Amino acid sequence: MEAPFVFGKIATDENFTDREQETKHLVGNFRSLINTIIISPRRWGKSSLVHRAATIAQNEDKYLRVCTVDLFNVKTEEQFYTVFARSIIRGTASRWDEAVENAKMFFSRLIPRISIGADPMNEVSIDFDWEEMRNNPDEILDLPERIAEAKGLKVMVCIDEFQNIAEFDDPLFFQRKLRAHWQKHQKASYCLYGSKRHMMLEVFTDSSMPFYKFGDLFFLNKIDTAHLVPFITERFSSTGKTISEGACRKIVELADNHPYYVQQLSQLSWLRSPESCTEEIVVKAHASLVEQLSLLFSNLVETLTFQQICYLHAIISGEKAITSAETMHKYHISSATAVSRSLKALTQKDILDRRAGVVSFQDPIFEYWLRHFYFQV
Ligand SMILES: Nc1ncnc2c1ncn2[C@@H]1O[C@H](COP(=O)(O)OP(=O)(O)OP(=O)(O)O)[C@@H](O)[C@H]1O
Ligand SMILES: [Mg+2]
Repeated sequence: MEAPFVFGKIATDENFTDREQETKHLVGNFRSLINTIIISPRRWGKSSLVHRAATIAQNEDKYLRVCTVDLFNVKTEEQFYTVFARSIIRGTASRWDEAVENAKMFFSRLIPRISIGADPMNEVSIDFDWEEMRNNPDEILDLPERIAEAKGLKVMVCIDEFQNIAEFDDPLFFQRKLRAHWQKHQKASYCLYGSKRHMMLEVFTDSSMPFYKFGDLFFLNKIDTAHLVPFITERFSSTGKTISEGACRKIVELADNHPYYVQQLSQLSWLRSPESCTEEIVVKAHASLVEQLSLLFSNLVETLTFQQICYLHAIISGEKAITSAETMHKYHISSATAVSRSLKALTQKDILDRRAGVVSFQDPIFEYWLRHFYFQV
């Protein structure tokens, strides 16, 4: 029997829960072509939410096309243009021959090289000469708008892992260029999101950056216990197994409402439950998850400086006044400056998160491991 939980992949249909408000909000933005930025820590469900909203919005609005661009492996401006052009061409065509036709029609200065594989629907590949692209980026950056105008469509371009553009050569110049083009578009809009929260914040909330106030900025939250408990119960019962309410709550509590970990811990608990899942099983499943991740966590700690580790120790121990002389002495913290440096570095590494002055861990299992295994508080 296949386990009824999904993690590490986009959650769809019965694997997707809650997010009703957010979905409605996003569907509205897509249909009204409002530029949108989604910010959340890693694995809280950005990609799944965008996928769901895109499906609903396109079903409701036959003129709307949502094109998804994933910058996951994109490290240079050249790769950006290629991936962007391909996604727009594919996402706005309903058939592969239409995609080929569009590729020929919508470029005048650029000459696309088109190759078609054995399975044309998935293997239409479009490439350009880099020199030509560098000299004529407008043709690519304006492509969504031009296709939308010519075909009477509305185009929403969703760009995942958008923070990668901050690492291109001359990122500010590139960002200015993008913004200058995109803000003129009437029939095309952009939904930008990514998994490096601190970099996304820098790109979108720093008033000196080109993308400042580009669109509707929306912060995704974790999923509430009130939604997760019935979700887990239903997933268990879809396979003929049961789970007690206490065990569900334990999963949610140990995973700290983190959507990815809730699904992973549910899966491990399901695998250990012949028929019905109890709190005891969940606790064992959690221990095995911590063990499974411990090597990864040890490697992560090895990348930290002594001062960063001391600072983590103080937070894990629940210290509030970290810069007091007594606390600094107790945890071998060298100075108040070291504290702010550590906090900054750990936020940049996406280990800690600071919201409304409150510092928290992004990964609840890492926090648990630090507390019980590394520092043994
Ligand atoms: N609405 C949801 N209902 C149930 N599970 C969810 C939901 N959203 C996300 N998840 C769980 O979290 C996992 C990660 O989701 P997703 O890939 O959408 O997050 P992300 O924020 O895009 O992650 P990353 O930061 O790595 O890009 C999914 O595989 C799934 O297990
Ligand atoms: Mg994602």
